[in-house]
Amino acid sequence: MQLTNPVTNQGVLQMGTPDGCTPDGCTPENCMVELMWPCFSGCFLIPRITQNHILQLRNRFQSLKYRPFRKKKTMNKILINFAHPARARSKINNALRAAVEGLENVTINDLYANYPDFLIDVKREQRLCENHDVIIFQHPFYWYSTPSIIKEWLDLVLEHGWAYGSQGRALEGKIFLQAITAGGDDSVYQKEGFTAFTIRELTSPCRAMAKLCNMNWLPPFTVLGIHRGLSEETVKVHAEDYRRVIIALRDGTLDIEKARHGQYLNSDLNSIIRRP
Ligand SMILES: Cc1cc2nc3c(=O)[nH]c(=O)nc-3n(C[C@H](O)[C@H](O)[C@H](O)COP(=O)(O)O)c2cc1C
Repeated sequence: MQLTNPVTNQGVLQMGTPDGCTPDGCTPENCMVELMWPCFSGCFLIPRITQNHILQLRNRFQSLKYRPFRKKKTMNKILINFAHPARARSKINNALRAAVEGLENVTINDLYANYPDFLIDVKREQRLCENHDVIIFQHPFYWYSTPSIIKEWLDLVLEHGWAYGSQGRALEGKIFLQAITAGGDDSVYQKEGFTAFTIRELTSPCRAMAKLCNMNWLPPFTVLGIHRGLSEETVKVHAEDYRRVIIALRDGTLDIEKARHGQYLNSDLNSIIRRP
């Protein structure tokens, strides 16, 4: 077995049997043992240095060299409550979902797949929320709102005494976000536009819910103008942006305060995502 001298980065200490140090190739200049016990006569004078001793010393060197300067990274846990009643026909939501599937600390909870009969397991859903820091509802815009299972989820899961009320603090401090895909484009969702309402206004019930539950609301991540037909390239860009947002929320590199004021979360990602 050979060990590199961790100080000079050269030379080797050659080890023989597991419980003994053979002096072959081990000189006062390159001997790690001698670095620890300065002794000009070489390692012959050190009684019974075992392979374990050497490995322990090496580990201590390595840990001293790197650990004290390394800040422990903690990641937020992201829950994506995915709601699309016809996933087989979905193009955009499937593309967004594929971009974040498998990311570390990201859980995708497919509501229509889990509850095709709408019999939502309230305790399971509450546990999922408790175990995550960021709660996202990803869905197509249906009748200026969410697909119906999300309404059912809100009605059942957000119990008094759990989500709100004097004792209900389970969601306090968590981040809340909607990721919405819509047929209409941005011009439709303006005060002077066809609908006369902005997406921010239309999503205000969810914003009010987040406020009641003491959550940190963020403006929705949106993919708009789907009815016009989005090119493959545009869909790819949206999917990459979604992945960027999820990673930034997970790694804590998204400026929540700044993001809160934008029209959409993805209006200008470069201005709200810091370099890690
Ligand atoms: C029942 C239904 C209601 C819809 N309501 C709206 C709506 O209110 N506003 C809108 O812009 N698009 C609406 N759309 C279009 C969908 O939002 C759009 O097809 C979907 O976001 C595309 O995403 P996907 O490829 O993942 O299915 C509706 C579609 C359906 C089927």
